[in-house]
Amino acid sequence: MGNPFTVSLVSWHDGGPLLRAIRETVFIREQGVPEELEWDEHDESCRHALALSLSGEAVGCGRILPNGHIGRIAVIQPWRKQKVGTAIMEALLDEARARKYRFVDVDAQVHAVPFYQRFGFSAEGEQFMDAGLPHIKMTLELKPR
Ligand SMILES: CC(C)(COP(=O)(O)OP(=O)(O)OC[C@H]1O[C@@H](n2cnc3c(N)ncnc32)[C@H](O)[C@@H]1OP(=O)(O)O)[C@@H](O)C(=O)NCCC(=O)NCCS
Repeated sequence: MGNPFTVSLVSWHDGGPLLRAIRETVFIREQGVPEELEWDEHDESCRHALALSLSGEAVGCGRILPNGHIGRIAVIQPWRKQKVGTAIMEALLDEARARKYRFVDVDAQVHAVPFYQRFGFSAEGEQFMDAGLPHIKMTLELKPR
């Protein structure tokens, strides 16, 4: 079993500094995404998932836009493969269902396709480059619970 953590949904206003720290570590420093592409106008209007260790360390994040687009899913390296990413996705998918969205989509980095497939997402169309990394669009139809 992995280390314990919690996931909560937060606004950018409340979670911004911790969410920023995770995305700086994972996307900007580890994956080389340019800063100007990492920060966009959507954060303010998104609902964000924030994973915290029991000691309060920010270990993972993700976001959902008002149009059902999920993105910026990131877990810091020492916390990977412990289901933090899964818990973040489940929190965002619960939010989408609560909002009665019929579909959600992600622009998946190609290496992460198997991760999204586990939730039922399927790939659509051709691969494309974004922020220097290969991506593919994936969609999921939500069934009401
Ligand atoms: C992708 C990412 C969020 C997964 O987070 P995580 O907390 O390690 O994921 P989980 O532990 O919940 O993984 C659940 C399952 O997904 C699959 N999986 C996770 N990461 C994967 C990866 N990079 N490639 C392929 N499969 C992966 C595994 O099958 C895993 O099952 P297992 O535990 O039985 O092996 C994390 O690797 C990450 O932050 N990567 C860098 C940022 C990134 O690429 N984000 C995605 C942008 S589209």
